[in-house]
Amino acid sequence: MAGTRRSEPPDVADMPPEEFREWGRAAVDWIARYLDEVEGYPVLAQVRPGELRARLPENAPEAGESFTDIFRDFETSILPGVTHWNHPSFHGYFAVTGSGPGILGELFAAALNVNAMVWRSSPAGTELEEHVVDWLRVLLGLPDGFVGVIQDTASSNSLTALAAARHRAYPEVREKGLFALPRGRIYASEEAHSSIDKAGIMLGLGHEGVRKIGADREFRMEPAALRAAIREDLAAGIRPVAVVATVGTTSTSSPDPVHDIWTIAKEFGLWLHVDAAYAGASAMVPELRRHFRGWEQADSVVFNPHKWLFTPVDCSVLLTRSPEEVRGALALTPEYLRTREAGVTTNLMDYGIALGRRFRALKLWFVLRYFGAEGIRDRIRHHVSLAQTFSSWVDEAPEWERAAPVPFSTVVFRRAPSGLTGAEQDTLNLETMERVNATGEVFLSHTRLHDRVWLRLSIGNLRTGRRHLERTWHLLRTLGAEEEGIPTVAASPDQRQS
Ligand SMILES: Cc1ncc(COP(=O)(O)O)c(C=O)c1O
Repeated sequence: MAGTRRSEPPDVADMPPEEFREWGRAAVDWIARYLDEVEGYPVLAQVRPGELRARLPENAPEAGESFTDIFRDFETSILPGVTHWNHPSFHGYFAVTGSGPGILGELFAAALNVNAMVWRSSPAGTELEEHVVDWLRVLLGLPDGFVGVIQDTASSNSLTALAAARHRAYPEVREKGLFALPRGRIYASEEAHSSIDKAGIMLGLGHEGVRKIGADREFRMEPAALRAAIREDLAAGIRPVAVVATVGTTSTSSPDPVHDIWTIAKEFGLWLHVDAAYAGASAMVPELRRHFRGWEQADSVVFNPHKWLFTPVDCSVLLTRSPEEVRGALALTPEYLRTREAGVTTNLMDYGIALGRRFRALKLWFVLRYFGAEGIRDRIRHHVSLAQTFSSWVDEAPEWERAAPVPFSTVVFRRAPSGLTGAEQDTLNLETMERVNATGEVFLSHTRLHDRVWLRLSIGNLRTGRRHLERTWHLLRTLGAEEEGIPTVAASPDQRQS
C-alpha cells in the first residue's frame, strides 16, 4: 500500500496524502475534544438570521485556499451558527446522538464514497445494508419475511411505503396516472407526523386525501373512528388506500393501538404502515415492546436510527413484508443500469425514490457492533428512566402539569398557574421556553395540544445525565416565575443535595 504513485500534476490532483493525513489527525483530535467539551457551547446557536451569510464572501473562491484558512473559518464563522444537537441539554424535537462509532462510520463511508444503486456498483454497500437491516429486524422482534432498506429520512421511507400502498389500491396508476380514477384516502391519526400529509400530496391524493382520525385523551388513534371513517368514504365512492399508525407521535410520543388498527386495515384489505420514526429503536427493549403490539402484522414499518439509535443523521430504515409491491410501484431500470447478476442480487435503487444512495449501513453496523444489543438496551432504558424522573418532578410541582403519559423518553408539560387564562398560560410557557433557550444552557421545543401550548423535553443523547435535567428544571421554574412576576423558587431538592 505504501509508496502511492502520483502521476497527476498538482494543479489537477486531489489533496496530497501527507496533507490529508495531517489534517485528518487534526480533525479527529478536534472532534474528540468537541464531543468531550460540547457542554461548553451554547446549545442553541446564538446568531441572528442572516448573520452567517453576511460573513461569507459573495462568490466562491477562484483560486484554491489553504486548509488552514478553511479550518479557521469553520471555527470562527460556521461553528457559532451551529445548534449543538450533541449537547447533553439538547431536548428539543427528538434528541439524538452522533456517537463515536457512528461518526467513524461516516468517515469511512465518505472515504469509500460508493454509490449502491445496483449490486455491482457496491456489493458491500448492498449486502451490508440487507444484513444490518435483518439484524435490526430480529432485534426489533419483527418476523421473518420483513426485508428492508436504509434511506435518508422517515419522510422518504413513508413516501416509499405509501407509494406501494397506492400501487396496491390503484394497480393502473403506474401507467396511467391518477387523473381519471376515483379519489383515494390515507388514514392517519390527527397526531400523525406531517410527512404523512406530504406523502399524500406528493402521491397525487392531495392533502384532502389524508383523512385525520380522532385521538383519545392520551393522543392515540381511536380505532372505532377509523372504521367509521373508512365506511363513510366507501359509501361516498372514495377508495381507501392505507392506514398509518404511529408509535411515538411527534407531539407526545403516544403509541397508537397498532393491533386494533391492523384488524381494521385487514378487514378492508388496506396497507398498514407503522411510523415509529422516533420510538422504533426502543422495541429492542423487552419491557417496551408492548407499545408495538401488532406492528409485526404491518405491511411496512419505518424507524430512524438517527433518532434514538445513536447513529448520525441521516439514517432511516424501512422494513416491509411486501417488497414486491414496493418494487412494483417504483422499480424502473434504464439500459445503463442493467446487469447480468440482476436476477440473483438486490438492486437497492428499486426500493426507493433516489437512484444513488450513501453507504449508510456502515455507520449503523459500527454502532450495532460497538454498543452491542445489550449496550443499546441499557442506554435506551437509561433515557426512559431519566424521562420518568423529570416527569415525576413535574407531577409533584404545584401549578405544573403533564399532557400525556411518558411511554418512552419524551415529557410534555407546562406551567398552568390557576390565576391565568389559557391564552395567558400559553404566553407564559412560550416566554419561559424562549428565556430558557436564550441562556444557551438548554434547548427545548414546544407543541400545541387541544389548542394549548405545551413544552417538550426529549432525551436521546448519550451525554445527558440527571444533573442536566436538574439544571433544566431549575431554569424552567426560576425563569418562568420571573416572567410572571411570581417570586422565584428555590433550587430543586436534587440540586440542594448536589
Ligand atoms: C413520528 C415521526 N415521523 C416522521 C418524522 C420525520 O422524520 P424525518 O426527519 O426522518 O423525515 C418525525 C420527525 O420527528 C416523527 O416524529
